[in-house]
Amino acid sequence: KRVALAFSGGLDTTVCVSLLKEEYGYDEVVGVTVDVGQPESEFEEAKETADAHGLDIHVVDAKDEFAELCFDSVRANATYQGYPLGTALARPIIAKAILDVAEEEDCEAIAHGCTGKGNDQLRFEAVWRSSDLTVIAPVREMGLTREWEKQYADEKNLPVQAGNDGVWSIDTNLWSRSIEGGELEDPSYVPPEDIYEWTDDPANASEAKLVEIEFDNGYPVAVDGEEMAPADLIEHLNALAGKFGVGRTDMMEDRMLGLKVRENYEHPAATVLLTAHEGLEQLVLTKEERDFKVQVDNQWAQKGYEGLVDAPLVGALEGFIEKTQTKVTGKVTVKLQGGQCRPVARESAYSVYSEEVASFNTKTVGDITQEDATGVAKYHGFQGRLANDVAKGVEKP
Ligand code: ARG
Ligand code: SIN
Repeated sequence: KRVALAFSGGLDTTVCVSLLKEEYGYDEVVGVTVDVGQPESEFEEAKETADAHGLDIHVVDAKDEFAELCFDSVRANATYQGYPLGTALARPIIAKAILDVAEEEDCEAIAHGCTGKGNDQLRFEAVWRSSDLTVIAPVREMGLTREWEKQYADEKNLPVQAGNDGVWSIDTNLWSRSIEGGELEDPSYVPPEDIYEWTDDPANASEAKLVEIEFDNGYPVAVDGEEMAPADLIEHLNALAGKFGVGRTDMMEDRMLGLKVRENYEHPAATVLLTAHEGLEQLVLTKEERDFKVQVDNQWAQKGYEGLVDAPLVGALEGFIEKTQTKVTGKVTVKLQGGQCRPVARESAYSVYSEEVASFNTKTVGDITQEDATGVAKYHGFQGRLANDVAKGVEKP
């Protein structure tokens, strides 16, 4: 009997390897680690842990596929409660890759180390439950706590993530790094600087830097004039903007189950690209398009958060997004300084801005003169003034 396990080398998944054999009676655990841009050290740790277990792990490279999904999320300005979607976008890709291995390796079951309190269990299982494999969630089913897991790992002499020792629960991919659990669960606890690995303390980053991002059809294609493939572009910006302390979030998040949770994130590249992309949309889309796109973007982000980017709704939303993005071609310069990123210059052949028309120094717009606005100004607010008069019992005009 074989079971495939989503394996990262972290505390939860390490403990699951033993439990699947001892408690669930599987003869063999097939560990699957999916590369969505975690740092090299995580793969080394996963390998070490796997070796110590005599576990064979499959490493599946999904980095480019994930980078492309991140760029789709940029076109949708996708954020959830204010932070860029990260873990949420990676989960369906990871889930699909593990399912493929499970089927190739003739597994009867497929397992993850998520708790019964979070979002990831839902995102994994939304993909897995399309198959006939038995889905196993040991942490959830056995009601495990991290304290219990640490003790169990100690007793069984299981190696847990070096450097971190399971103090925080960390999830890293190209697009973001999340840090949760431990003392961070107390919303009044101020996080120590060392939870951050991608961003320098914004207080130490006082100098400023300008960075130019070029977009083609809403997709980021170049940084400071240098064309880069999606994954490279993201890594480049993570390093660059991280030095200026850009892209930190410390928040209370509403999870799908309704629980609030304290979350910390780092996402320098995502912040830069989302900021620049929106800056370009401001220049090229009409007000109506922008107003409507906010609603479309919100729906895209909601499905993204739920781990349901394959839902038919998302395809339909992308029909609209695609149409708008044909104009999102051009360049935006952002300024990085003291943890902030803001657009400071933009240009596009599709600009809907006319300096000639908007300038305070010109008199006419085609054959329209400034005085023509007088009639509009007379009507503006008319209905409200009338309603207020009626309420006061003033006689109607
Ligand atoms: N709350 C975030 C989300 O739902 C981060 C989850 C992090 N996952 C983890 N296994 N540490 O996307
Ligand atoms: C977990 O509960 O396993 C991690 C956090 C989440 O899924 O939201």
